[in-house]
Amino acid sequence: MYEHATSKRGCRMVDLRGRDFLKLLDFTPKEINHLLKVATTLKKQKYNNESHKYLKGKQVALIFEKDSTRTRCAFESGAVDLGMQATYIGPTGSQLGKKETIADTARVLCRMYDGIEYRGFDQTIVEDLAKYSSVPVWNGLTNEFHPTQMLADVMTVREEFGKLKGITLCFCGDARNNVGNSLMVVCSKLGMNFVCAAPSELFPDEKLVKTCKEICKETGGTIKLETDIMKATKNADVLYTDVWVSMGEPMELWKDRIKLLLPYQVNMKVMNNAKPNAIFLHCLPSFHNIDTTIGKEIYEKYGLKEMEVSDEVFESSHSRVFEEAENRKHTIKAVMLETLKP
Ligand code: CP
Ligand code: NVA
Repeated sequence: MYEHATSKRGCRMVDLRGRDFLKLLDFTPKEINHLLKVATTLKKQKYNNESHKYLKGKQVALIFEKDSTRTRCAFESGAVDLGMQATYIGPTGSQLGKKETIADTARVLCRMYDGIEYRGFDQTIVEDLAKYSSVPVWNGLTNEFHPTQMLADVMTVREEFGKLKGITLCFCGDARNNVGNSLMVVCSKLGMNFVCAAPSELFPDEKLVKTCKEICKETGGTIKLETDIMKATKNADVLYTDVWVSMGEPMELWKDRIKLLLPYQVNMKVMNNAKPNAIFLHCLPSFHNIDTTIGKEIYEKYGLKEMEVSDEVFESSHSRVFEEAENRKHTIKAVMLETLKP
């Protein structure tokens, strides 16, 4: 049976039961490390084919107002591993948004389900959902934050280097997006060095930078914003990038973003500028070739065969993107287990 985390004296150290998981700013370093520890245990259990249906009989609702492969599959298959049933509510086919408010949806779903996941637009929507729900609400990505992604990312980094404190992670690209923001937060929380390589127009929000710098004072982390990609990536342990235009942003933005962000592409010259044993991460999906509909469209319009990362880096021995994608499942299971367990 799954045990609560206990100290040597037998008192409980971290208790996340009933908590929402909306952004990592709401969690202490100890709580985040605890979730990573639980995810590691769940990963071992999965690999050893050990049954871990600790939430048998519970049910979860998964609201997706935007597309998803990894997050949806991690929640759905993770719920089944833990003994639960999951209901997927997609961008169409429910009353949400058209005839029913988020507050009413929350008040209905929490009478039928034990937990609710939400992927969609403004952070205020998921915060509202949590406000009106009596069961835990998990953020599966909003315009501002992508907290479940972060747990998988730092788990992958720790698996590689055996530690997180002192590790330098450089994010190259649109550093104001959900992934850029969230990486800055998780690095500050866990005492890592966060470097952003971006044009100043796409630097993260000043208020969030200030908040993260305050957190760093406690944890020993650092934050650096840099416009020169070679300076930014020098001696980094981890290079990370994400798409240049995020879900929900208009297609017309591509033209400007390509102009702004092409100098920040993670290619072999950039990868070789980091430490020799540096790894490459990407939340995925990624435009590293033209074998997708949008990839083709961009190629036809702008002549680019690869965007935020070159195919060479994506397919190289530095790349840990599929280990990272797998860890989405183990970490999302940890979030569901720790917030829903009796
Ligand atoms: N990284 C991530 O969130 O992937 P999906 O959009 O496929 O869920
Ligand atoms: N910034 C990306 C992340 C996808 C996982 C987006 O929001 O589309």
